[in-house]
Amino acid sequence: MRAAISIFGFLAFPSAYAQWDPSRYLYFTSAGNGISSSLPLGNGRLGAAVYGSATEKVTLNENSVWSGPWQDRGNPKSKGALASIRQKLLNGDLSDAGALALDSMSGNPTSPKQYHPTADLGIDFGHGSSQLSSYTRVLDTLHGTGWVTYTAGGVNYTREYVASYPAGVLAFRITSRPAGRLNATISLTRAQGVQSQSASTSGGNSITLKVNKDSLPFTAEARVVNDGGAVRVASDGKSLSVSGATTIDIFFDAETSYRYSSQSAWEAELKKKLDNAVKAGYEAVRAAAVADASEILGRVDLDLGSSGAAGNQPVPTRLSNYKKSPNADPELATLYFNYGRHLLLASSRDTGERSLPANLQGIWNDQYSPPWQSKYTININLEMNYWPALTTNLAETNKALFDLIDLARSRGAAMATKMYGCNSGFVLHHNIDLHGDAAPVDKGTPYTIWPLGGAWLSMHLMEHFRYTQDKAFLRDRAWPVLKQAAEFFYCFLFMDGAYYVTGPSSSPENTYIVPSNQQTAGRSEGIDIAPAMDNQLLWELFTNIIDAAKVLGITGTDLTNAEKYLSKIKPPQVGSKGQILEWRSEYKEGEPAHRHMSPLFGLFPGSQMTPLKSKTWADASKVLVDGRMRAGSGSTGWSRVWVINLYARLFQGATAWSNTVTFLQTYPLDNLFNSGENRWFQIDGNFGFTSGIAEMLLQSHAVVHLLPALPASAVPKGSVKGLVARGNFVVDIEWSGGLMTRSTVTSRSGGQLALRVESGAEFLVDGKAYTAPINTTVGAKYVITRK
Ligand SMILES: *[C@@H]1O[C@H](CO)[C@@H](O)[C@H](O)[C@H]1NC(C)=O
Ligand SMILES: *[C@@H]1O[C@H](CO)[C@@H](O)[C@H](O)[C@H]1NC(C)=O
Ligand SMILES: *[C@@H]1O[C@H](CO)[C@@H](O)[C@H](O)[C@H]1NC(C)=O
Repeated sequence: MRAAISIFGFLAFPSAYAQWDPSRYLYFTSAGNGISSSLPLGNGRLGAAVYGSATEKVTLNENSVWSGPWQDRGNPKSKGALASIRQKLLNGDLSDAGALALDSMSGNPTSPKQYHPTADLGIDFGHGSSQLSSYTRVLDTLHGTGWVTYTAGGVNYTREYVASYPAGVLAFRITSRPAGRLNATISLTRAQGVQSQSASTSGGNSITLKVNKDSLPFTAEARVVNDGGAVRVASDGKSLSVSGATTIDIFFDAETSYRYSSQSAWEAELKKKLDNAVKAGYEAVRAAAVADASEILGRVDLDLGSSGAAGNQPVPTRLSNYKKSPNADPELATLYFNYGRHLLLASSRDTGERSLPANLQGIWNDQYSPPWQSKYTININLEMNYWPALTTNLAETNKALFDLIDLARSRGAAMATKMYGCNSGFVLHHNIDLHGDAAPVDKGTPYTIWPLGGAWLSMHLMEHFRYTQDKAFLRDRAWPVLKQAAEFFYCFLFMDGAYYVTGPSSSPENTYIVPSNQQTAGRSEGIDIAPAMDNQLLWELFTNIIDAAKVLGITGTDLTNAEKYLSKIKPPQVGSKGQILEWRSEYKEGEPAHRHMSPLFGLFPGSQMTPLKSKTWADASKVLVDGRMRAGSGSTGWSRVWVINLYARLFQGATAWSNTVTFLQTYPLDNLFNSGENRWFQIDGNFGFTSGIAEMLLQSHAVVHLLPALPASAVPKGSVKGLVARGNFVVDIEWSGGLMTRSTVTSRSGGQLALRVESGAEFLVDGKAYTAPINTTVGAKYVITRK
């Protein structure tokens, strides 16, 4: 990213598109025609997918508009069947165990709620698409704003779009030059569940949409403020018609029954937010929104080399050129990194109580039956959304995730009792919804029965502490989650030989072939005892409890239980090919090219199997991921970016980079949204990509490690500013000729700084040879240079 040009009020458009910084802007010369070519904006709660079409369409989302209230789907047969499922698994009766587990443990109904779009904003200007010329559409990843400009019938039209976190609304401005030439019919529509639609010009111009069926009830409203001309209610009684205006400002909000107990309460909130925004005026709302977003997004500045003319093309052209000559446009990777940070900030903020995290489509969904219900899938996808949060200096985005975890804990505690007879602890399975629905989801052996969701999510709170060093957070928010997550396992785990094991469980979402000495030989199954990923998750959980207890001065059974269980979790096993084993035994893999990297959790995002901690397990991890990739894995965007992070952790910079290039050649949609199966938009890959780039440049699970996996020949020269390392260190790094030249580490919390450069190069700190960890001073900056 280059220096920010500040754009307040009226826009100064660069005279030629050569000036659109290719690392910062998504630039288009045509309108979007669907979510995957829209400009996505958001304030953490409200999302807007802007198409910029001749008749404007903006798909609007509010993150709590889902298909209905919570429902107890827990299977009452589960508790009674548990002992016999376990006995079958111990006896090697694997197929019967799987069948019994599905029959007695699946939820009823099998799916939780699904995410829904909120409304469409339509603006008909009376011109058709064939009349538009000199069309430009841009998204700014540093300010979090979008705009469109074109001429039609001799009139210059500009449209600006901003999502304001401080004001809690979306705000759009449309301008004509010359003055007084704007005619527009503005509407709010929705395909389902509409109770009423109305427009009014008394006491402010407004369009109101109320929904009370098929989704959680809510009210949405657009306020229209014109400069010049006149506004009247259109003949349909539901839209507003503006004629002869110079500017039209539109403010939008929606408030739902999820956060307010009555319609009058959510409508009072809606009125308050819109009244305040109208009173402040568009320019003030915009200025505050840009100041907020650019302060946060501007904390990190990445330079992976310059593209020159190849970067000065519309995004779809850049993507298609990149397939042929990736080296010509290095800034595409930088833009993709910056875009991931924009998307996370736009879809995940602290919006008060019951903030909600980014779901499978962030907050940019236009379907009532979206792929995978656009849920929170917690056997990889929701966690991946938050991989860049801490490393790329966006710690505040985590709050929304932690709010949902707290909500899910109470559902999960009831489910632990109902399904497993465990009266302490909480359990989550492989998906949750906005109500924290804790029951198993869908009905298949490779995914439904997997009670480790709480263990994985709890890790995010411990990592938040490691990065921020916020002890009050550790005590008040993280510790209760870690403790309750662990308590479930003290009840659920059972002894098999020398080890505490899980079961029934699965290795998301792979299958194995039942061996010849077990039943039913040759069948493909998913359920077993103690898959490798479960052991790795439990190692992480109990280690986190021990680390947290140490910081907080906690002793007693909370600590001794974690120590006792940790000592009896089976360590990673290495198989006949030198690979990390995925299952209890060396079963034949059902899908050697499987997209999930579950048995490598302990390499990334976990840390148990990383090279500086265990060369043996890191080597075996490499054998497994190499084998997966040779067989054809990395077959969805999110799978490919997990692989980038894994190779970065293995210090394989060149391989991490070649997967980065393949990702950019394969998975981005026209607006750089990541795609999954069937080229459907799935946002996880956007976030995992951003994390993967950061992981090549800085790692900190063992020491603060500068350039651990730099792709030295592909990206020989560059810099990054503002990444964050565990210990709350802010790190800037410059490199040239594939080697670190100068770095600075700023200590935000004091504490010990252990450093490593590249593969163990010698270096100086403040001009003196580094020999041992440094006790840092809060606020001090340490300069690292080569020896
Ligand atoms: C419309 O006017 C603005 C302000 O002068 C200018 O920046 C923009 O380029 C114009 N748009 C077109 C399509 O000419
Ligand atoms: C706006 O509407 C008025 C009245 O219908 C019409 O005379 C004028 O030409 C329209 N202007 C544009 C720019 O379409
Ligand atoms: C650093 O601090 C630790 C305790 O916080 C102390 O034991 C150690 O001696 C200090 N090291 C130096 C070099 O001052």
